[in-house]
Amino acid sequence: MEKIVILTGAGISAESGLRTFRDAGGLWEGYRIEEVATPEAFARDPALVHDFYNMRRAAAAAARPNAAHAALARLEAAGRHEVLIVTQNVDDLHERAGSVHVIHMHGSLAGALCAACGYRWAAPAVMAPQDPCPACARPATRPDIVWFGEMPYQMDRIWQALRQADLFVSIGTSGNVYPAAAFVQDAARAGARTLELNLEPSLGARDFDEARIGPASRIVPDWVDTLLRA
Ligand code: OAD
Repeated sequence: MEKIVILTGAGISAESGLRTFRDAGGLWEGYRIEEVATPEAFARDPALVHDFYNMRRAAAAAARPNAAHAALARLEAAGRHEVLIVTQNVDDLHERAGSVHVIHMHGSLAGALCAACGYRWAAPAVMAPQDPCPACARPATRPDIVWFGEMPYQMDRIWQALRQADLFVSIGTSGNVYPAAAFVQDAARAGARTLELNLEPSLGARDFDEARIGPASRIVPDWVDTLLRA
């Protein structure tokens, strides 16, 4: 069975109403993402960082999967390909669309993490700096999100999947953030065909064998239909 690894970024959730990071207007209260999504920012002003993620958690909860998420779930459910989604997104729209094999390499808004003891639990809707950890009771709770300078989750599993992939597809990501931005090269080196689906060519566009340009809600279902008709 053909193995497909699909990397997704903020662009796949844009038409669900969730803002991307680097497009026009991709700022939060005048801050660049690098100014709130770092361990240093959290040490400096934990309330500000919690507010940023509380707001994003509320936005994600109010959003619905769009036709692109649904198409990827349909591709997996059809059972003709082995599909793994590696998402940089911290929303749960892939799961809510019905995708099963999903790796959240940058963490998830649904998770809380104790910075003191490493305990993980389901995040409440609103988190605050003084929240005690349920395990060690220290007020060191943070969102279970991978910040700049931290190691993304499940990299061994991801690199293994990239090495074994027949097809690597990148959807709705600008190619600014590593290691995800290098996955196309990792997969190609291991022999996979590579396809980019994005609103505009990403920074690494020339590394892909093929590209389709347009909004995800149109081009992802079109691509899945072509694959399932073949
Ligand atoms: P970006 O905001 O950098 O890029 C979004 C990409 O989606 C751009 O290339 C857009 O052209 C494209 N796009 C926008 N609307 C689209 C649509 N309707 N259909 C298809 N594509 C569309 O977001 P990411 O690449 O996901 O990390 O950013 C990567 C990481 O940077 C994030 O996971 C986050 C951020 O810092 C962390 O927080 C660790």
